[in-house]
Amino acid sequence: MTYTGSLVRLRALEEKDLNDLWRHLNDMDTMRLVTDGPVLPATADDAEKILRDQTSHSTGVYQFAVEDLEDGRFLGRCGFTSLDRKNRHGEIAIHLGEGRGRGRGADAVRVLCRLGFEELGLHKITARTFDFNHACARCLEKCGFTQEGLLRDELYRDGAWHGVRVYGLIAPGV
Ligand SMILES: CC(C)(COP(=O)(O)OP(=O)(O)OC[C@H]1O[C@@H](n2cnc3c(N)ncnc32)[C@H](O)[C@@H]1OP(=O)(O)O)[C@@H](O)C(=O)NCCC(=O)NCCS
Repeated sequence: MTYTGSLVRLRALEEKDLNDLWRHLNDMDTMRLVTDGPVLPATADDAEKILRDQTSHSTGVYQFAVEDLEDGRFLGRCGFTSLDRKNRHGEIAIHLGEGRGRGRGADAVRVLCRLGFEELGLHKITARTFDFNHACARCLEKCGFTQEGLLRDELYRDGAWHGVRVYGLIAPGV
């Protein structure tokens, strides 16, 4: 099992990522695509808490730093937000704060899915994205995900209701 794709490597979040992580959390335009809660400025403490809690060894969830293979730059995070061991399902999420639109996101999702299927023994991986997040939808489709549904009016943002698309990918060869 390798954590390396053709463009990125997944590794543990480390102390050295703190400043970049903090900056990413304060990029409000991007946070609008990621969180279903209110989009609020983050403190250094908030970033530290994420570093502390979201390690690859966290109980139940596995979070990784996404590092650019070309120059070792920290691009963002990805990982499993929930795991259902009994039914062997997992849900993933990804947040690249930089280096977007150059295939890094799709590469990270592929590595994460390989890890889910080959290491965690999952049967199915799901992901959710807001209906206005076309980059994420395309990224998931490019990685083999199929849209399984649209949850209507799940997100209230900027004074309007938005849907959430649910995507799924079944383990290959099943
Ligand atoms: C979503 C995300 C992971 C995609 O990663 P990425 O590195 O930007 O995307 P990739 O370069 O791998 O491209 C994947 C596909 O999406 C397409 N794409 C990228 N930006 C797009 C946009 N704004 N609109 C439509 N398609 C877009 C690419 O063209 C590519 O498809 P193609 O190969 O057919 O041309 C990344 O943009 C990101 O982290 N965004 C901010 C946070 C976020 O939205 N997270 C997901 C929440 S569910």
